[in-house]
Amino acid sequence: MKALILVGGFGTRLRPLTLSFPKPLVDFANKPMILHQIEALKAVGVDEVVLAINYQPEVMLNFLKDFEAKLQIKITCSQETEPMGTAGPLALARDKLVDGSSPGQPFFVLNSDVISEYPLREMIEFHRAHGGEASIMVTKVDEPSKYGVVVMEEATGKMEKFVEKPKLYVGNKINAGIYLLNPSVLDKIELRPTSIEKETFPKIAGAGGLYAMVLPGFWMDIGQPKDYITGLRLYLDSLRKKSPGKLTTGENVVGNVLVDETAKIGEGCLIGPDVAIGPGCVVEAGVRLSRCTVMRGVRIKKHACVSSSIVGWHSTVGQWARIENMTILGEDVHVGDEVYTNGGVVLPHKEIKSNILKPEIVM
Ligand code: GDD
Ligand code: MG
Repeated sequence: MKALILVGGFGTRLRPLTLSFPKPLVDFANKPMILHQIEALKAVGVDEVVLAINYQPEVMLNFLKDFEAKLQIKITCSQETEPMGTAGPLALARDKLVDGSSPGQPFFVLNSDVISEYPLREMIEFHRAHGGEASIMVTKVDEPSKYGVVVMEEATGKMEKFVEKPKLYVGNKINAGIYLLNPSVLDKIELRPTSIEKETFPKIAGAGGLYAMVLPGFWMDIGQPKDYITGLRLYLDSLRKKSPGKLTTGENVVGNVLVDETAKIGEGCLIGPDVAIGPGCVVEAGVRLSRCTVMRGVRIKKHACVSSSIVGWHSTVGQWARIENMTILGEDVHVGDEVYTNGGVVLPHKEIKSNILKPEIVM
């Protein structure tokens, strides 16, 4: 089976992290976002993943080369010369998606910034059972207006309407960005910049061929800092239920905490809930961490406190410093001793010597 992951877009809402890496390579729960997806695809028998990309394909491919060998899966790029939207890239990659040996076989399409339990096997069964042209996963959210909203027949999942980012309330079930499509869908997409949400899905729904499956388990679009932090909580909750052995235990751990085996944690720390600490990190004595992500190679010095924040790759946080309220430190940022940051967004390679008292961008 084949799959395509939409990895275009500039990831502006996840700056400053995306100033250092394309969004799909930003770590989430100690590994690049896109790896969560590639692993899930591999697990259901996908043998080739096509990355639909519109800039810096070398960065992505170099990075993923190691994983190609490790996971035994082919990873290729389909590069756009101009952004082709969310449907155009499918037309561009047509030859890679249609399997010569079984030309009717459906393929997966994934948005690159969503995280879930990826129930892809159930999706394949759902798709077979309804016999329509296309299946999409849907989930319920409180704030549907920033997503694609669907109206469907409850019993069968048959889609009546698909409205992308509606201004008026349509319903609370939204497109989760995980699709399984028959190759015939490609005949409905022209080779030009075009939107699968605004053009392709409404068309297929109108013809009665689009079905929605309600996604079991959690889901989050982690393309914005606040949602990224919430997404980590949901992900760790689900890990607790499915593979609790992967979470850290100990007397200074509260709730769900994921620590890479190469990270070092000092004496007398209090860590959790909802924390991810990446490879090579050093957390010195007496540190307090909660609801945060500490990426690869970070050092948190003695008695610092980090909550509801993201500390980017290879940054350092000084002694007694306090980082809170959705502070996002880019790559290689150095926060001085005793400095307080309240919601600062700090660009890569900066040194912070004085307090950031209100949420602002530090350039
Ligand atoms: N190759 C390519 N080219 N990919 C693109 C392009 C492009 O021109 N534009 C966007 N993408 C990719 C993004 O990288 C992302 O993986 C996916 O397409 C969706 O784009 P977003 O910019 O993240 O869209 P969104 O989050 O506002 O809305 C989409 O996702 C929601 C779920 O998270 C829509 O699909 C909504 O219907 C959906 O509810
Ligand atoms: Mg998104």
